Amino acid sequence: MIAEYNWSTLNLKPIFDVEMTATLPQQVTIIEVSPRDGLQNESKALPLGRKVELVENLARAGLKHIEAGSFVNPRRVPPMADSDELFSAFRRSPDIVYSALVPNRRGLQRALAAGVDEVAVFGAASETFSQRNIQCSIEESFERFQPVLDEATAAGVRVRGYVSCVVDCPYEGTISPTAVLRVSERLLKMGCYEVALGDTTGAGTPGSFHELLSLLENTIPAENLALHCHNTYGQALANILVGLEHGIARIDSSVAGLGGCPYAAGASGNVATEDVVYMLEGMGIATGLKLDTLIDAGRECCQALGKPNHAMVAQALFAKAQDIAG
Ligand code: HMG
Ligand code: MG
Repeated sequence: MIAEYNWSTLNLKPIFDVEMTATLPQQVTIIEVSPRDGLQNESKALPLGRKVELVENLARAGLKHIEAGSFVNPRRVPPMADSDELFSAFRRSPDIVYSALVPNRRGLQRALAAGVDEVAVFGAASETFSQRNIQCSIEESFERFQPVLDEATAAGVRVRGYVSCVVDCPYEGTISPTAVLRVSERLLKMGCYEVALGDTTGAGTPGSFHELLSLLENTIPAENLALHCHNTYGQALANILVGLEHGIARIDSSVAGLGGCPYAAGASGNVATEDVVYMLEGMGIATGLKLDTLIDAGRECCQALGKPNHAMVAQALFAKAQDIAG
């Protein structure tokens, strides 16, 4: 167990007094997406009991927002087919928001019946990705989302809006920041409380994120934005740092770097929660999370999936613990 590792040797001493961190958010909320994004693309579906363990382990680590499932067409995304059962199977903590993706009214009805605390609609800044992912144009997606927003709001359920392909599209290549702005503003205007900017392919760099956020911040307050970075090109932490510099304090991540989209071939997992927490806490930015418990959650999930763990922090500590033991 990594929890037996001697944490005092891990240099996580926050540096509070450097000029750089003074202007950054002092606290960041992590939206943990491993039970949804992390598992939706797995060829071997994780059994329900293991999903329950994952969600409960994440709660123990201190996460306050867990995206636990997805109410989409189960034929398109089979690993999410048991989301209805999952929501009634894990132990709920009243101070945690348990959310799920919904693509349409049908999905919302399922989500409400399952007792979700919050839902997320998911659009894209790329026409082709929109067609491939949700079988409609960007404009049609707004028509689908509006009744979802109206009905969710009437039921007292908040709605988050994802925008995929904020930098790059697996089909169209580079996406212009103005296309992202258009979709983001529309989702907020329709009633989403925040827009999560999805770097679906992970191709973004600090340069492209700076360009994008410099445009968005003219009209969208930072508190209405979150970053959802896939780490395919190893740029996610650097991109998150740019987000912090633009005042963004809500970050999506996934333990063990699990994740992927069935409609973005070759794109790898989300940025690992363990790595985000290590970076933020090391900068004196509070996350409220227990790193050792997160590492255990990621490791258990990887073992159940038979997959390597992509959290660099976990890899480093496992190697160190092995050296000490051996
Ligand atoms: P469609 O084919 O246009 O839908 O798909 P439809 O209304 O014609 O229905 C087709 C069939 O699906 C029907 O069944 C419906 O009942 C059923 P049939 O009559 O053939 O037996 N159906 C449903 N069943 C259960 N729940 C539902 C539902 N809706 C329809 N909610 C649809 C449109 C959007 C539903 C479909 O394309 C779909 O489910 N897509 C899922 C795409 C997806 O989950 N992608 C991965 C998540 S997005 C992502 O990962 C990116 C993100 O992480 C951010 C980033 O990284 O960029 C969020
Ligand atoms: Mg994603």
